[in-house]
Amino acid sequence: MIYNFNQYSNKSQARQDTIIDMYRSLFKKNSIPKFQDYITLCANQVEGDELENGSELKQLINSNFISLNQFYGVDIDKSTIEMNKAVGGANWVYSDLLSFLIDNMDKLNPALINIDSVFYDKRKITELLSDVLLLISENYNSDCMVVSNFVLNNPYLCSNINSDKMKEVIEKEVKEYQTNLLSNRFYRDTVKVGWKQYHKHYVYSSTGKACMATFVYYRYMINDQVL
Ligand SMILES: C[S@@+](CC[C@H](N)C(=O)[O-])C[C@H]1O[C@@H](n2cnc3c(N)ncnc32)[C@H](O)[C@@H]1O
Repeated sequence: MIYNFNQYSNKSQARQDTIIDMYRSLFKKNSIPKFQDYITLCANQVEGDELENGSELKQLINSNFISLNQFYGVDIDKSTIEMNKAVGGANWVYSDLLSFLIDNMDKLNPALINIDSVFYDKRKITELLSDVLLLISENYNSDCMVVSNFVLNNPYLCSNINSDKMKEVIEKEVKEYQTNLLSNRFYRDTVKVGWKQYHKHYVYSSTGKACMATFVYYRYMINDQVL
């Protein structure tokens, strides 16, 4: 595995790199096909009745990556979703992500799922990720990419250490993450076979304090077969 220790000074740059550019480069498509959806843990994206500058949805639209109606912003925080609803045309969903995917299996066709979590708990993120990958494997036959973010332990550590020490910390964290993934039965028995994991990961400091890791999973489909 090759590590890429990109440092991002802001969230927009990280999204550009790990979502938009990554998808374009992996699938050789400028935008998500019209018949597919972009599904994300959304948080607040709106200011008043307009998309906030720097919000995920505004960035995706400005990059001609998706149309408004392809966007599903899901959040377990009800007030966040209610506020986002001030912007019409997109799909704002008050739900747990996995429940939403399960309950709407026949209505959706995910091209990209952004599990943009701020979980520290690696078991929690690897369980959610494994469940999402399994669900897609068993129910859809289109190209798909899943982005999974989590917070590296000790948010203050990364800003205070030199790059060698940082590399050491990250390698330990990533190993722990991979071990957790492989201990998940769904991941080990089903998902690992059909999905490729991008061999780079990114670490950025979105607030100047938190260090995030991003892993990207993708699969290509040709004639209903995983490539
Ligand atoms: C980091 S924020 C998302 C940021 C957004 N994607 C962006 O780029 O600006 C994560 C959000 O996920 C929500 N969340 C956490 N776990 C969730 C779950 N299982 N289902 C739905 N929403 C969840 C949190 O309430 C939080 O608002």
